[in-house]
Amino acid sequence: MTRPATRSLRVLELHELPDGRAQSRMVEQHAVGVVRLDGRLIAFDPLCPHKFSDLCEGLLENGAVVCPTHLWAFDLRTGACRNVPGARITLYPAREEDGWVVVDVPLPS
Ligand code: FES
Repeated sequence: MTRPATRSLRVLELHELPDGRAQSRMVEQHAVGVVRLDGRLIAFDPLCPHKFSDLCEGLLENGAVVCPTHLWAFDLRTGACRNVPGARITLYPAREEDGWVVVDVPLPS
């Protein structure tokens, strides 16, 4: 199985990412959400798959980001929705590099 082609994007500087708070950015037409959870960077598509609210405006709760609009909760380790079976968000690989959060987003197919 081949991995999808990706592109590395500098999403935000590390000092812009406060503990316990997700941040979303639009970078080169890619919406990217980032959060630090238990010391680990996690990146994800921040648009809720229900009605496209920005998940980064919701709360973090027990390792999940909770949509501010209708409270769907997405596990930030798996992307799976905890209260709506089958719903999920896409997680992206993320790392720290030269003071930046760098995220690998898939290229459009
Ligand atoms: S828009 Fe997110 S749960 Fe409805």
